[in-house]
Amino acid sequence: MAITNGLDPKQLPKHVGIIMDGNGRWAKKRGLPRVAGHKEGAKTVKMIVRTSGELGIQVLSLYAFSTENWQRPQEEVRYLMGLLTEYLISELDELMAEDVKIKAIGDLNALPGRVLKILENAMEKTAYNKGLTLNLALSYGGRDELIRSTRKIALEIKSTNLTCEEINEALIRAYLDTKDQPDPDLIIRTSGEMRLSNFLLFQGAYAELWFTNTLWPDFTKDEYLKALLEYSKRTRRFGKA
Ligand code: FPP
Repeated sequence: MAITNGLDPKQLPKHVGIIMDGNGRWAKKRGLPRVAGHKEGAKTVKMIVRTSGELGIQVLSLYAFSTENWQRPQEEVRYLMGLLTEYLISELDELMAEDVKIKAIGDLNALPGRVLKILENAMEKTAYNKGLTLNLALSYGGRDELIRSTRKIALEIKSTNLTCEEINEALIRAYLDTKDQPDPDLIIRTSGEMRLSNFLLFQGAYAELWFTNTLWPDFTKDEYLKALLEYSKRTRRFGKA
């Protein structure tokens, strides 16, 4: 595809993480119920997924539902689960055509059975796609991910020849939800909040952070390209001189 906005494809992040924040405020500003903001936010999701695929980004991780989000009113939780399943059903053909591979990160056992079934179907159907990997962070928390992986490692030690001394960074990575994926190079958060909120804590250790006041439903392709352009100009030292 045509290079947009002066972006050098070689300087693009391999993995982009996005904390999609501000749906509730978007709705409130318009006197609408919070869920109207989520509905509008789902449109931004479609645009960002398409754009990321077109640009040749390898992995896009979207923070769609955190472990903490279960504490929201039941009606909002139900609506978000509905939006997710609607997305996975209605967009599946397009995601196939765009060669997108759907993955999920998070405590998937906590999801309602119907949602899990639809998610598994989408993951299965797109498993051999070779374009963008779309990580949907669902019932995801970085701390929870570390707890789940620590438990799995402990079980391995108990039941196999694995020893404590063999625990190293590579081994821990192999037990994370993002196994075999590059770390996020860039994490974007919308809506003016400047924190990670439990997103990709281990993997994001050296991620470049980019913040905007724009609320997620208002986030545009142009602004996404701007974030990528700014990222491409940053110097990354990974703690070295
Ligand atoms: C944060 O905004 C957003 C969420 C908790 C949910 C994100 C969900 C979507 C963008 C739509 C569905 C997703 C997919 C993958 C189809 P907030 O509600 O915390 O906003 P606020 O901080 O303004 O209240």
